[in-house]
Amino acid sequence: MFTLEPAFRRLRAEHRVLRAVLVAVEGGVARSRGRRLARHLDALGEHAAYEEEVLFPFLVARVPDIAVAVEHAEGEHDYFAWHLPRLVGALRAGREYEGPMIVALRHHLEEEERDILAPALDAGVVVTPLGVPGHLLAVHEALTGIGRVRAAG
Ligand SMILES: [Fe+2]
Ligand SMILES: [Fe+2]
Repeated sequence: MFTLEPAFRRLRAEHRVLRAVLVAVEGGVARSRGRRLARHLDALGEHAAYEEEVLFPFLVARVPDIAVAVEHAEGEHDYFAWHLPRLVGALRAGREYEGPMIVALRHHLEEEERDILAPALDAGVVVTPLGVPGHLLAVHEALTGIGRVRAAG
């Protein structure tokens, strides 16, 4: 199934949630808050899986110029899969995290939006495969109770 532009909107909304999580993590958090933040990060794999398995192949087939950026992003996904358990573990234990994930993930979100999503939109890709709806937003809404995170577009 294909839909108009929701993948871009959803991914950006999920990136915004992740950026907010990273800001919270940086300050060091108590265990109860750390557990809530960790649940957001548990959904990161699903976010990356949608990008790698559904969206990126679709976009590269239409906008070949982004192939290098996609390969780069996928390499970073592997890096995150390796480092994420230590960050999540620190949050769940209420320990301060001093590893590379915060800087690396921030950098990744920025590059993905600038080097993949924006060029695809500029090239006129407005229809995307639906894939599995983003679990990260659902986690955020369930934990904060503040309703849908609005996408800036
Ligand atoms: Fe990604
Ligand atoms: Fe992403």
